[in-house]
Amino acid sequence: MGLGAVALAIAVLGIAGWLAFLVTQSRVRHRRQAAAQNLSPFLTDDELENTRLNKVLLSALIATAVLAIVMPVYYLNESSRQAAAVVHFDDQAVERGLEWFTEYKCGNCHGANGGGGGATYVEKRSGIKTTWSAPALTDVLYRYTPDEVEYWLTYGRQGTPMPAWGAEGGGPLDSQQISDLIAYIASIQAPQSDVLAAVEGKVSRELARLLNADQQVADAVAAQQAALAALEAAPSQFAAVQGIPAELETVLTGAGTCTDGSAALYQQACASGGMDSDRDGLTDVAEVELTDLVARMILNSPESDAATALGKLAFDHTNAFTNSDGPTPIPDLTGAETAVTEFNTIVRDLGLASQNNERLVTAAQHGLDYLAGVAETRPYQIDIPGLAAEVFSGNITEAQRAAALFNAYCARCHTAGYSAGIAFTEAAGSGAIGPSLRDGRAEVQFPDEADQVKFIIKGSVNGQLYGINGIGRGWMPGFGAMLSEEDIMLIVKFERSL
Ligand code: HEC
Ligand code: HEC
Repeated sequence: MGLGAVALAIAVLGIAGWLAFLVTQSRVRHRRQAAAQNLSPFLTDDELENTRLNKVLLSALIATAVLAIVMPVYYLNESSRQAAAVVHFDDQAVERGLEWFTEYKCGNCHGANGGGGGATYVEKRSGIKTTWSAPALTDVLYRYTPDEVEYWLTYGRQGTPMPAWGAEGGGPLDSQQISDLIAYIASIQAPQSDVLAAVEGKVSRELARLLNADQQVADAVAAQQAALAALEAAPSQFAAVQGIPAELETVLTGAGTCTDGSAALYQQACASGGMDSDRDGLTDVAEVELTDLVARMILNSPESDAATALGKLAFDHTNAFTNSDGPTPIPDLTGAETAVTEFNTIVRDLGLASQNNERLVTAAQHGLDYLAGVAETRPYQIDIPGLAAEVFSGNITEAQRAAALFNAYCARCHTAGYSAGIAFTEAAGSGAIGPSLRDGRAEVQFPDEADQVKFIIKGSVNGQLYGINGIGRGWMPGFGAMLSEEDIMLIVKFERSL
C-alpha cells in the first residue's frame, strides 16, 4: 500500500500543480494582452535560453527520476504484497472455519480439537443405544482430497450419525461456509510423522479389542439384563413412590414441621415453625420424617444416580451436619434440598418407564435376545491361527497385525456395525458404506494383487473406473500417506483371504 500510494500521490499532485500553473498563466496573459496568442510574438530565443529553461528541464528530470525509481520498486513489491493478501485471506477463512466448527458443534462428535470421538446412536438391529465412533479430522486430508472432504461435509454419510451440512445435501451451510470449514480442517492437520507414529498405538488397541471382545459382549449382555429388570420393576416401584414428593412437601412447608428455610425450598413462607434443636434450618420432626422418606425412596427405586445421591443423606437433629465424618459434610438444609430434586427425578423417570412399559420391555427384551445371539455366534471374532496358517505361513504376529490394521483403518467402512461397538460388529469385511470384501471379492475385483495395493495407496477417484468393474465415487480414501507399503501389503493379504 505504501509505495503505490506514494507514486499515485506524486502523480496526482504533479498533474494538479501543472494544471493550476497553466490556468494561472493563461489568466495572467489574458489580462496582459488583447491579441490572440498565435498572433502575438512569443518569447525570443534569448529570453528562452536562460536559467528559466534550465529550471523547467531540471524539474522534468527530477519528476522522471522519481517515477523511474518508484515504479520498479512498486512492481517488485507487488507479488509479495499479493501473497501477503492471500495469506491474510486464508487466515480469515481458517478463523471463520473455526467459528462454524464451534457453532455447529463438530467437536461434540469429532472431539474438541478434531482428534476423534463418538456420537450417541440407536443401533438399528438391536434398538440399543450405543456410541458410534467418529473419526479424527486431524489426518483426514492425508486420506481424502479437499474435494472429497467437501463431498462428505455437503452430503453427510448415510447410515451413520454424520449429518449433511451443505445446502445441497439439505444442511444449514452454504458453500462458502463449507470451504471455510475445509480451510480450518487443513489448518489442524497433524504432521505426517505423527500420523505415521500413531499406527502402532492403533494396532495394539485393535488387538486388545479383539482379545477382550468376548468379555465386552458379556458385559453388554449383563448391562442389558439389568436394564430389562429395571424396566420390569418400574410400574410397581412407581406406584410405591409416586406420592412421596407430596409427603416431603407437606413436611417441609407444613405448620409445626417447617422452618423459613425449608418452606423457602418450595417458594413458600412458614406460618408457624417447630423446634430446630441443632439450628440447621430443619425442624427436629422434619429430620425424623426426612430420614424415613429417604429410606422409603431408596428401597423402592432403581439403582440410579439419583438413588446414589440420596444414599449419602442422613438426618440427625442433634447435629447440624450429616455425614460429618466425610470430607465435605452436608448441612441438613442442603440435604433436604437434594432430596427435593432427587425425589422428583426418580419419580419422573419411573413414571416415564411405566408409561408404555409393555413396549419398552419388549424392546429391551429384543435387545437382550440380539446380544445373547451375538455372544453365541461371536461374528466379530477373527480366527487368527487360521488366518496365519492360511495366508502368513503360520506367522501369528503377521496375522495379528494384518487383522488389527484392517480393523483400525478399513473396518469402519467395510465391516457392518464396526463403529457401533464390538457387540454390533458383523463379520470382518461384511460391507457397510464400502462394499463387502467377503467371498474372495477383492480377488475378483483385482486379479493382480499389485493392482489392489495401488488402489489402496491411491483410493478411488470420483468418476474413475478401478479393478474389473469398480466405479469410483471418491469415497474410498487413499492410504499411501498414512500407512507403510508393508502394512498395506498385510492388509491386502488379509482382505484377499476373506
Ligand atoms: C452427530 C455427530 C457428528 C457431528 C455433529 C459431525 N460429525 Fe462428522 N462424522 C460423524 C461420524 C460418526 C462420521 C463417520 C461416519 C462413518 O462411520 O463412516 C463422520 C465423518 C466425517 C468426515 C469424513 C471423515 C472420514 O475419514 O471418513 C468429515 C470430514 C467430517 N465428519 C467432518 C465434520 C464436520 C466439519 C462437522 C461439523 C460441521 C461434523 N463432521 C459434524 C459424526 C458427526
Ligand atoms: C471412509 C470409508 C472407507 C474406508 C475407511 C475404507 N474404504 Fe475401501 N472402499 C470404500 C468405498 C465407498 C469403496 C467403493 C469405491 C467408491 O465408492 O469410491 C471402497 C472400495 C474398496 C475396495 C474395492 C472393493 C470392490 O469390490 O470394489 C477395496 C479392496 C477396499 N476398498 C479396501 C480398503 C482397505 C484395505 C481399507 C483400509 C486400509 C479401506 N478400504 C478403507 C470406503 C472405505
